[in-house]
Amino acid sequence: ESGKLWGGRFVGAVDPIMEKFNSSITYDQQLWEVDVQGSKAYSRGLQKAGILTKTEMDQILQGLDKVAEEWAQGTFKLNPNDEDIHTANERRLKELIGETAGKLHTGRSRNDQVVTDLRLWLRQNCSTLSALLRELIRTMVDRADAERDILFPGYTHLQRAQPIRWSHWILSHAVALTRDSERLLEVQKRINVLPLGSGAIAGNPLGVDRELLRAELNFGAITLNSMDATSERDFVAEFLFWASLCMTHLSRMAEDLILYGTKEFNLVQLSDAYSTGSSLMPQKKNPDSLELIRSKAGRVFGRCAGLLMTLKGLPSTYNKDLQEDKEAVFEVSNTMSAVIQVATGVISTLQIHRENMARALSPDMLATDLAYYLVRKGMPFRQAHEASGKAVFMAETKGVALNQLSLQELQTISPLFSGDVSHVWDYGHSVEQYTALGGTARSSVDWQIGQVRALLGAQ
Ligand code: ARG
Repeated sequence: ESGKLWGGRFVGAVDPIMEKFNSSITYDQQLWEVDVQGSKAYSRGLQKAGILTKTEMDQILQGLDKVAEEWAQGTFKLNPNDEDIHTANERRLKELIGETAGKLHTGRSRNDQVVTDLRLWLRQNCSTLSALLRELIRTMVDRADAERDILFPGYTHLQRAQPIRWSHWILSHAVALTRDSERLLEVQKRINVLPLGSGAIAGNPLGVDRELLRAELNFGAITLNSMDATSERDFVAEFLFWASLCMTHLSRMAEDLILYGTKEFNLVQLSDAYSTGSSLMPQKKNPDSLELIRSKAGRVFGRCAGLLMTLKGLPSTYNKDLQEDKEAVFEVSNTMSAVIQVATGVISTLQIHRENMARALSPDMLATDLAYYLVRKGMPFRQAHEASGKAVFMAETKGVALNQLSLQELQTISPLFSGDVSHVWDYGHSVEQYTALGGTARSSVDWQIGQVRALLGAQ
């Protein structure tokens, strides 16, 4: 006997290199708990189908509880023949309860077992990630609320653009994350579908009640086709894409903060808790937390692209290629958990340099408002844009700030300029114009905060 669950038709031994190559136990052992859950549900299904007596089912259920207990207490001993978590658990069950254990796998295949396990595991982990992500968004919204009226420069093309509220910047990133939060719930819905009872390819020949299995494992629905169910990994691809997009958002926020934290910008300062020093340059305080958030995006994208390449062109139904899905899921799930928690720490401890933020604003950033001033006096916007551009040129030529041009000088550009143009040079007045929903005026920022909080509450 080869000692393998599939050993019957084999006479030759497996090359030790192949043994190691084929094995997934080093990483899939973290499925131990969901594997036991799935097996418990399946044994109830077998009992209802008349394959197990009540006594046999109880024996199996108790044995499986013992297996789980060993894992939980760290006393489960792997043996060199344990190829994966499914074979390990079944091998141990047999040691504990004897030959009855051999009935558990009736009509089941590792093909429907493994994908059931992975769906259970990912469903649970998505709930954890979802809670962490919501905590990050909440932290950001609280910060936006507390620092609602602080102004600083908004950039487009990394060039000084228009004054905005600091809270408006925070919310711009928080709003992107609310879409990720929503998207994760949608992905979770498609994860939450039961494949068990599909067998290896053809289905279940013993009349196992899949509705019972669904209810036992609390799935939302049942897969429609056994061939598809055992080999599709759409839910994995969707999870990895969800993570990729979320990382895109987090890496952009990280990049902004890295930049704003340089001495050249000097608008924010990362707390010591999320920075590191240089082994050579004593003055250095480096934003390693943010750089790692930025870089983890690459790792996550790689896993997403890698899985899609594994899936592309696979012949129908289960192929061992699919074993590769698990490391991607585990790694990305762990990465997302760490990244989101670090981002929450960074945001909640970040210092802002209010005076520098105020000082960083300059009158040229009000050139757009100068054009709007003329628009309000009746000038078509294209002409107003031209006129304001002329004022910018005049100020530059004279070597003065835009707000230092005299009324007489402005009137050489347009007779519509009058004494009230002085209001334009007030940054607070500037941002308060942007009252349309979604803009940087206080009323709109209040509205955004309310909307994001409502989304958090509703999810
Ligand atoms: N460890 C395998 C996996 O992760 C289990 C499925 C093996 N099925 C098979 N027919 N060889 O995919």
